[in-house]
Amino acid sequence: MRTPIIAGNWKMNKDMQSAKELARGLVSKNARFRDREIILFPPYPFLPAVAGLCQDSRLEVGAQDISEHEAGAFTGEVSAEMVVSTGATWTIAGHSERRNYHLETDEIVNNKVKRALSAGLNVILCVGENLRERERGAAFDVVQRQTERGLAGLDQDAMGHVVLAYEPLWAIGTGKTATPRQAQEIHEFLRWVIQRMFDNATAEDLRILYGGSVKPGNINGLMAQKDIDGALVGGASLDVESFSAIINFEV
Ligand code: PGA
Repeated sequence: MRTPIIAGNWKMNKDMQSAKELARGLVSKNARFRDREIILFPPYPFLPAVAGLCQDSRLEVGAQDISEHEAGAFTGEVSAEMVVSTGATWTIAGHSERRNYHLETDEIVNNKVKRALSAGLNVILCVGENLRERERGAAFDVVQRQTERGLAGLDQDAMGHVVLAYEPLWAIGTGKTATPRQAQEIHEFLRWVIQRMFDNATAEDLRILYGGSVKPGNINGLMAQKDIDGALVGGASLDVESFSAIINFEV
């Protein structure tokens, strides 16, 4: 049995006070879960505060990105070790907004995955095709390439600290969700890719999240799919009520 993960990517939203209010609200509303993991991804400046508020709760905390470098003269960058020192235990790598607006290649994403793991962070690696790629029938090729290159050089043990997120670009922040069928099709394929790269057990144990306009109204249909093990939520994770409703999906 794979434990489902509901993760909230706050992106570049909130200030210190509203970040703390959101974290407090989520902690008090979602204290009782034993059978699902909840992870919050606030902006860097709020990590210590949010990690502190979540410390004695079921909620985990992570960074939205990390530097591919270990330390040194990299102005504006934040290292994996710095994130660990705030009490956070996760990072996202390869989010499409990083790939597109900051020109992150598969090689950079792979470096980030490796840096995170060697610092002791768990990683959510994001993959996903854009609308043009889907329309010309290249979605499978794109997610396979991003997955193989993003996880290059990892062994089975390392994969115990990795989660995949399938986020079709045409569904992010657009209000257009992939249908549960469309998502399931890619998730099943990704599990096959992992089995080919590693082995059966690694593929079976891997959590594969769906991301892209996940809302309280569509989470149940997505979670009913065999290979969808959770959600990476953007917009709907910024509010206690809507994110709690998603966390409370029905099994
Ligand atoms: P969205 O973002 O839920 O606002 O579409 C998802 C994501 O980018 O992780």
